[in-house]
Amino acid sequence: MNMPLTKHTMQNTGEYGLQEIRERLYKSKAVTILAGAGISAESGVPTFRGKDGLWKNFRPEEMATSEAFKQEPRLVWEWYDWRRRALASLKPNAAHLAIAEIEKRVKEFTLITQNVDGLHQLAGSKNIIELHGNIWRVKCLSCNKVNANREVPIKILPFCECGGLLRPDVVWFGEMLSDNNLTKAFVAIDNSDFMFVIGTSGIVQPAASFALRAKDEGAFVVEINIEKTPLSASVDATFIGKAGDILPQLL
Ligand code: OAD
Repeated sequence: MNMPLTKHTMQNTGEYGLQEIRERLYKSKAVTILAGAGISAESGVPTFRGKDGLWKNFRPEEMATSEAFKQEPRLVWEWYDWRRRALASLKPNAAHLAIAEIEKRVKEFTLITQNVDGLHQLAGSKNIIELHGNIWRVKCLSCNKVNANREVPIKILPFCECGGLLRPDVVWFGEMLSDNNLTKAFVAIDNSDFMFVIGTSGIVQPAASFALRAKDEGAFVVEINIEKTPLSASVDATFIGKAGDILPQLL
C-alpha cells in the first residue's frame, strides 16, 4: 500500500508511492545514487543553472575551462576563491545526512556525485566517487601532485612547493573525467538494482547518461528534483520536491 505523501511540497508523478520506494530500496542488493548540485542547494550552495548560479555574469561554462585558466588564471582563481569562501561555513543538510544513513542500511552502496563541495564527506558518506573532483584540493600543473587545501581566502595565485602553478583539482569543461572514476561509476551502475538520481538537471554528460544506463542494465531508477528534467520521462518514478524533504522520509 502506498503511504500518503506527507509533505505538501512533494508531488509524485509516477505510480509508485514512497512506501513502495522505501521497500524496494532496502530490499535492493546494490544501490547507487547520482547526486547533483540540487542536493547542496538547501545548504546554501548556489546551483549552476539556477537564477542564483551566476557570478559577475560569467557562466560556469566560460569560467571552468583550461583555456580560461591559461588566459586568466587570476580571474579563474578569484571565482574559485569566491566559491570556496561561500562554501567554507556551510553544513551538510538533511539530504546529505539521509544519503549517509542510507549507505549504512543497504548492502552495497555507491554515491556518484557531481558536486565538488565536500559536503557528502562531512555528512558521513564513505563510498564516494567524486566525478568532477573536489574544490578543497589543488593540483600542480608542473608536478601533478594533488594536495588538500582549505585556505580561505586562498593566496592568488597559489604555487606548489616545486614552483608550479596550482589549479583547483576539479574537472573543467572540455576535460576528460578520470578513467578510474568512470570505470568505478560504470561498475557500480551496472551492478545496481536500485538507483536514485537526485538534484541534477540531467544535462551535463556523461553523468546525464548514467540513469539511462542503469535502466538499460535493469535497475529501478527514481528521480528526486524540484522540477521535471529531461530524465523524468525515462525513469521509473519522479518525486518532485526538495531532496531534504523527501529523502529523510525514506529512513
Ligand atoms: P544544475 O545546476 O545543472 O542542476 C541542479 C538541479 O537541482 C536542477 O535540476 C534543479 O531543479 C535541482 N534542484 C535544485 N534545488 C533542489 C532541491 N532542494 N532538491 C532537489 N533538487 C533540486 O547542477 P548539476 O546537474 O549538478 O560541472 O550540474 C552538473 C554539472 O554542471 C556540475 O557538476 C558542474 C556544472 O557545470 C562541472 O563543474 C564539471
